[in-house]
Amino acid sequence: MRLKDRVSLITGAASGIGAATAKTFAREGAAVVVADLNDEGGKRIVDQIRDGGGSAEFVHADIGQPREVEAMIRFAIDRFGRLDVLHNNAVFAAAGHVGEIALEGWQKTIDVGLTAYWYATRCALAEMVTRKRGAIVNTASISGLAADYMLGAYNTIKAGVINLTRATAIEYARKGIRCNAVCPGVTATPPLMAILNSGDGTMMKRICEAIPMGRLADPQEIANVVAFLASDEASYVTGAFFVADGGITANTGMPGLLGTGPEW
Ligand SMILES: NC(=O)c1ccc[n+]([C@@H]2O[C@H](COP(=O)([O-])OP(=O)(O)OC[C@H]3O[C@@H](n4cnc5c(N)ncnc54)[C@H](O)[C@@H]3O)[C@@H](O)[C@H]2O)c1
Repeated sequence: MRLKDRVSLITGAASGIGAATAKTFAREGAAVVVADLNDEGGKRIVDQIRDGGGSAEFVHADIGQPREVEAMIRFAIDRFGRLDVLHNNAVFAAAGHVGEIALEGWQKTIDVGLTAYWYATRCALAEMVTRKRGAIVNTASISGLAADYMLGAYNTIKAGVINLTRATAIEYARKGIRCNAVCPGVTATPPLMAILNSGDGTMMKRICEAIPMGRLADPQEIANVVAFLASDEASYVTGAFFVADGGITANTGMPGLLGTGPEW
């Protein structure tokens, strides 16, 4: 077990990548604090972990509210005595062209998807540095490496998460704390599947055509990367971002000039 007896906290763990990671951490031996504003979904993940013999607790937290971030970290430390692994993962994203995004939507995107990652990191570091031990894994995205149409606010937070990861890593490397990011590609989580299933299937087809592997990621495939980064197997890895995207960012975006593409 790669995370035996570690105490972990995952934000946005009621669904998608966070839920898959919570269950993976538990299977690897960690106690898991499932943090989310979705109480029903979060408690369901906790029940599933406990049914599998794991240790988990739910804490309600809207990470867009700094006081709730503080309470969430305090909950983990009070309940389990310390915090070994923090996985910042929850997100909110206002969609719209850069010239049209509403100020409130932009602000909430930054609050939940960037400020909360920093503030949870700050709160966790206060405890981690006293023991000179800790691992922080931030969910960034390939959308932090390049831009998407109508997702400028999202592109901005994810790029920020990558450099927050680096800044945390270099400043706390000699205090025993590692900080890394995962950059998922298109992953089959509920919000994305709701969009893709709402149309006539054309969008799903076009997305799969753009991915060299020809398919979306399963959330478990992202959770596997997070578990690696959180574990001692990654003991010399810090300040890194790991791309798990089926090859999409390995492509320049050019169609095959010489008449060939992913299928040849
Ligand atoms: N699905 C993808 O294709 C994809 C690709 C790249 C990166 N990501 C990133 O992965 C992470 C997880 O996304 P997902 O696709 O699993 O989404 P999801 O909607 O399945 O899960 C997100 C969870 O975050 C929770 N949440 C939202 N706002 C919150 C808040 N203010 N406080 C606490 N919890 C809150 C939601 O209730 C939900 O349970 C996000 O950071 C997202 O940007 C997803």
